[in-house]
Amino acid sequence: MVLAHGALRLRPLTRSDRKAWRKVRERNLAWLTRWDATTPPGAEARPRTFAAMVRGMHAEARAGRQLPFAVEYDGEFVGQLTVNNIVRGSAQFCSVGYWIDEAQAGKGLMTRAVAMAVDHCFFALKLHRVEIAIRPENTASLRVVEKLGIPEIGYAPRYLHIDGDWRDHRLFAVCREDAPKGLEARL
Ligand SMILES: CC(C)(COP(=O)(O)OP(=O)(O)OC[C@H]1O[C@@H](n2cnc3c(N)ncnc32)[C@H](O)[C@@H]1OP(=O)(O)O)[C@@H](O)C(=O)NCCC(=O)NCCS
Repeated sequence: MVLAHGALRLRPLTRSDRKAWRKVRERNLAWLTRWDATTPPGAEARPRTFAAMVRGMHAEARAGRQLPFAVEYDGEFVGQLTVNNIVRGSAQFCSVGYWIDEAQAGKGLMTRAVAMAVDHCFFALKLHRVEIAIRPENTASLRVVEKLGIPEIGYAPRYLHIDGDWRDHRLFAVCREDAPKGLEARL
């Protein structure tokens, strides 16, 4: 599955992204650590290698619970966007997480990538609702949902284990009927 807009491409993350992924992550440690998921005390440890992470994501994808995308710009790996927590049945719900190389920030790339992924969730996967959880301190990510017109639906104290502790999150969600033409049409 490839989603494209000009030089921006979302395509499945694969094991062959290892070198580019490590290079970008190493350069961006300070940029990303504050927003990165961590392992809560007592929980099963997160994958320690890129290969293990991709293996786990592909297993989730095969089970229909996740879509792990590599984000490319001009043919270069620049970040990741993951559609996760896909729930079918009466929920038809998912959430979206993302990060981009600091060197590529501010070009509107991840805002458009989120719009493309949400539209894929609505129109190809037929999901009904997409949720994005953001730490109140994360002004850049708050701008992403603001620019896409994704409404705030609540506040979740100690919602996710991020950067070593349980962190409060503001919750944003959009339903398919709120955006009949999709989110990319809003940009
Ligand atoms: C949040 C994030 C994905 C946005 O990606 P992006 O491709 O830069 O998105 P945009 O270009 O649309 O910029 C969104 C906002 O980020 C801010 N921003 C832009 N360049 C920035 C930079 N170099 N440094 C810090 N913030 C910046 C601006 O407020 C911008 O809003 P604006 O367009 O009104 O100026 C990116 O900042 C990032 O990866 N942050 C670290 C990881 C993270 O927070 N992930 C999300 C967790 S919920």
